[in-house]
Order: sequence, then structure tokens, then C-alpha cells
Amino acid sequence: MRKNIAAGNWKMNLDLDAGKKLASEVINMTADEVSNDAEVILIPPFLHITSIKQLAGSSKNVFVGAQNCSNEASGAFTGEISVEMLKSVGVDYVVVGHSERREIFGEDDALLAAKTKAVLAGGLKPIFCCGEKLESRESDQHFAINKEQIEKGIFGLSKEEILKVVIAYEPVWAIGTGVTASSDQAQEMHAYIRGLIADKYDQETADSISILYGGSVKPGNAEELFSQPDVDGGLVGGASLKSRDFVDIIKAF
Ligand code: PGA
Repeated sequence: MRKNIAAGNWKMNLDLDAGKKLASEVINMTADEVSNDAEVILIPPFLHITSIKQLAGSSKNVFVGAQNCSNEASGAFTGEISVEMLKSVGVDYVVVGHSERREIFGEDDALLAAKTKAVLAGGLKPIFCCGEKLESRESDQHFAINKEQIEKGIFGLSKEEILKVVIAYEPVWAIGTGVTASSDQAQEMHAYIRGLIADKYDQETADSISILYGGSVKPGNAEELFSQPDVDGGLVGGASLKSRDFVDIIKAF
């Protein structure tokens, strides 16, 4: 179901005390100040998930996500975390294919397709990320790159499955750089992605999927980005580490 979503990806930041403080502030400020129906997803490091889930327990619109998972169900995979484990501590969403996983950890399309399948098989919802690097945009390859990532990552899914996926378009050149895609650039790519889904599945399916923008979303640009017809929210990194900034972003719908 297409929803407005503000997801805060904490990446590898904050110890447990700082994470609990941030989550409590966001949960309380959201309850006090936010009147829209946006869904809020807190995505802390694995270790903090249980504590953050407890804090979010009473809140009906604050959900908890994981930044990654294994594609394997269980076994001798030292250092990995399975979907079942995430489910057992109350995780709702799992980020799959963040550009940092693709680039730094070498996760390829086949692995990301397997992770997406594993998340869905476990009854959780993937936040599937795609996005081009600067050189691809400069050489006008950005549509082709996103198309390939989407086709290889999620077009093996059934219609029923893809309806549970949230897509995040995150141009790599805008992540952590302070450079945001313009609202026109974001809208153009989001409409393109929605068109790909309509061609592969159908228009109703495409219209039901939330497509988030990620890359230097801040309180000062969130409203303009979120007002675009095909931008259904944000996957927010740096600004999600400050409660005031993140709640202002949630209020921007
Ligand atoms: P940023 O990160 O908001 O710090 O640019 C976004 C992301 O990587 O999800």
C-alpha cells in the first residue's frame, strides 16, 4: 500500500545510550508534533534493535528496520544475521542493497535479489535501494543503471511480493555529500521507476508502491522533495541522527 514514509538510516553511528536517547526523542516529538499519517521507520545498528523496538512498542506509526540481513536462513555464516532473527526481535523492514553495501561490501545484483526474497519469505518488508554514481549521471547512463538494478533485484518477484517492497532511489553522488538531487531530478527518476513497474506488472501495482528518495535529505529540502507526485518520502542518513532535524523532516509531508 502506497504510504508516506520517513526512514532514518543511522548507519554505523551511536552507541546504545545515544541510540536510545535519539529514538525516545523522535518517538515523543512525533507523538507531540506530527499530525500527518506518515510512517516513521528507525533503522539502527543491529545491536540496538531490541532496545529501540521496546521504546517504539507503544507507538502506532513508528516502526523498526534493519540495515542489512543475510540471504541464508541459518548455519555457519560467522558475523551474519538472518531474517528470522530480525523477525524475532520485532523488525518490520530490512534495507537491501544500500549503495554502501553494493560498493564497500561488493554485494551484487544476484545476492540482493536473494536477500529481497529472503526478507519477503520471512514476512518482513524490504526497502530496496537503487541509484547511479556520478559518472553514470554525467554520461547519461542513469536511467539504464537504475533500470538494471531494479530488473535484476526485484523483477523476479511476483506481483503479490512486489506490493510489499518499498523502493528507495538514492543517487550515490547525493549520499552524505550535502548535494541533494533537485526535486525535478528526483521526480523524473521516481516517475521513470514507477513506469518500469507499470510496464512489468500493471499501473495499479505501480501506483501502490512507495518510492523514497535518499541523499542529503534535510529539513530545508524535505518539503519540496516530498511534494513531488512520485516521491513518497525519504531514506534519511545524516539528518536522522538529530531528533529535531528528523522530526522536522517527518513533518514535511
Ligand atoms: P544521507 O544518507 O542522508 O546522509 O545523504 C542517505 C542514505 O545513505 O540513506
